[in-house]
Amino acid sequence: IRIGVLFGGLSAEHDVSVLSATNVMKALSPERYDAVPIYITKTGTWLLSRYDNGKLEQPSEGANLCLLPGGQGRLIAMGSDGTATELPKLDILFPVLHGLPGEDGAVQGFAETARVPLAGCGIAGSANALDKDLAKRLLASAGIPTARAVTVLPGQVPAFEDLAKDLGRTVFLKPARQGSSVGVAKVKTPDDYQAALKDGFRHDTKLLAEEFIDGREFECAVLEDPDGGLFVSRCGEIVPAASHGFYTYDAKYVDGDGAALIVPADLPRQLEDGLRAMALKAFQALGCDGMARVDFFLLSDGRFLVNELNTIPGFTDISMYSKVMAASGVAYAEIIDRLVDHGLA
Ligand code: DAL
Ligand code: MG
Repeated sequence: IRIGVLFGGLSAEHDVSVLSATNVMKALSPERYDAVPIYITKTGTWLLSRYDNGKLEQPSEGANLCLLPGGQGRLIAMGSDGTATELPKLDILFPVLHGLPGEDGAVQGFAETARVPLAGCGIAGSANALDKDLAKRLLASAGIPTARAVTVLPGQVPAFEDLAKDLGRTVFLKPARQGSSVGVAKVKTPDDYQAALKDGFRHDTKLLAEEFIDGREFECAVLEDPDGGLFVSRCGEIVPAASHGFYTYDAKYVDGDGAALIVPADLPRQLEDGLRAMALKAFQALGCDGMARVDFFLLSDGRFLVNELNTIPGFTDISMYSKVMAASGVAYAEIIDRLVDHGLA
């Protein structure tokens, strides 16, 4: 199976994607796969990469790759002198891209246009899940509880005091369409709020002000079988180090001790089963297919809230998605096999 592994990209999570894709390349067995790593530069150009010795090359120049519309995987390399060379056809495209564009349906739509099978979640589920504002509305209409929030747009910025009345005096301000906690701030004063607005709007034109949830964080994985059956994994818990205050970008990727992942989570089985049922419902409410990681908060009164869904979750072999799948008996390489089988079905 000739599999195109797309990584890098224009998003603020470029480096996270490189980590995820490096692990994917490592896990693709040469007996089953002929892997073609495709690096998307920070300006959006597709370049042929190479995986060698545990490292994925991030070239800065070379022939531009393009997938031919309607070409069913035909892949062309365009040289700077205008010469085109056709490379062997791709059987399937696996976007290992986090954030925007890539996890939002854009690349998924491109695969559809190229008529090449796709590993992972399709257009609508990706778009719905990546936009935390849209996701919240869909989850609410499916009766799934989420944190209370107010949408903040450039022409519609509520005063801090008004937010505080609705949401409490500690507010999370986050870009609606970003991942890995990029641009997320915990706000307690009007001054914090002004600074957070400025930073937030650098990342997105739509922000979400959310009530602060003081709860434990849990995550679980959903993976679709080729026949459409949905597998929901055991749950894991994230315990961010106190020094980070919440599960920040640095706690996720920079500081090795930034957070502890406890897998499987220390939860009574009945609560865990309730959470897994809610994960399934959330996956379906957003129109997801293929895979997603569903993130939750557990409140002190025993209620769960869905925080968000990630349709291309962090995908290293020590990421939560792979850890909870491993705890459920599905090894890392098998996750990829199942995603590919689902895409090719
Ligand atoms: N957006 C990051 C990669 C995650 O949710 O795992
Ligand atoms: Mg995320």
